[in-house]
Amino acid sequence: RREFFRLAGGLLIPGAAGSLAGACGDASSAAGLSDGGGRQLPLQNVKAKVINTDEPLNRFEDITSYNNFYEFGTGKNDPQRYGGSLKTSPWTVKIDGLCNKPASYHLEDLIKDQQLEERIYRLRCVEAWSMVIPWVGIPLSTVLNPAEPQGKAKYVAFTTLFRPGEMPGQRTDALQWPYVEGLRMDEAMHPLTILADGLYGKTLMNQNGAPIRLVVPWKYGFKGIKSIVQIKFVEKQPPTAWSIANPQEYGFYSNVNPEVDHPRWSQAREKRLPSLFATYKTQMFNGYGDQVASMYSGMDLKRNY
Ligand code: MTE
Repeated sequence: RREFFRLAGGLLIPGAAGSLAGACGDASSAAGLSDGGGRQLPLQNVKAKVINTDEPLNRFEDITSYNNFYEFGTGKNDPQRYGGSLKTSPWTVKIDGLCNKPASYHLEDLIKDQQLEERIYRLRCVEAWSMVIPWVGIPLSTVLNPAEPQGKAKYVAFTTLFRPGEMPGQRTDALQWPYVEGLRMDEAMHPLTILADGLYGKTLMNQNGAPIRLVVPWKYGFKGIKSIVQIKFVEKQPPTAWSIANPQEYGFYSNVNPEVDHPRWSQAREKRLPSLFATYKTQMFNGYGDQVASMYSGMDLKRNY
């Protein structure tokens, strides 16, 4: 598997001999495995269905057994299998960089005065599969604004926990650790961009990025960095884990675009898991174009940023 990933430049090639099919096989047979750790607690006072879709939701079992979280291994079922070793409490998130009020927060304090919202979003992975997931979370802007970003701050950089003792994948060189991601300031402040701390009304499982992860529904799933410990306002476009690993294939913006193929596969269609067939047409901006396209006016969207 290791050698395969080196060849593949880090990501599974959908449809390549045995890859996705094999991984899906893992996922369905794993439905009866332990939940991968982390007790799930019901979340209180969640405003239901603030954003919804008329598409059927994926089952909880799919969403929690078929994951990308390379800190726990590169197999789709590895995060469920090995995620339990991560201790997610206590958890501190530092918000700093170019802002007037940098601070470190206990996660509870960061969230406690916020209205939790259910956001039912499509998640479109760059590997050409998708799911529909009922996230629970808060708009990212509600934690960015109190920090009072300065005018010089043009981007927001995110960092995942680095704790190789609890994240076995970090003892390999599958990616450069810690996993990092970034958004332009307007993208970070966009009302669709959320920090999720739950799904299906309960706290996140470790495999989905507990205790807090980013969800940016119009971008490929890898922008949704998991288990965040730092959010930093910066002036320059920050490096991102996948563009460090393979800059030819993964750009900074990575907006879902059916017309720009991955160098090694088409992005025109997607498999709606657990189906193995690419029966869904991929939508521009993953279907969120009405809300987000104006942020990119003047940009050549045919280019793979
Ligand atoms: N965040 C970290 N820290 N490490 C990862 O490997 N994988 C990304 C993203 N966030 C990843 C990550 C990818 S490739 C995808 S598609 C989504 O998480 C998957 O989220 P899910 O497993 O909750 O569906």
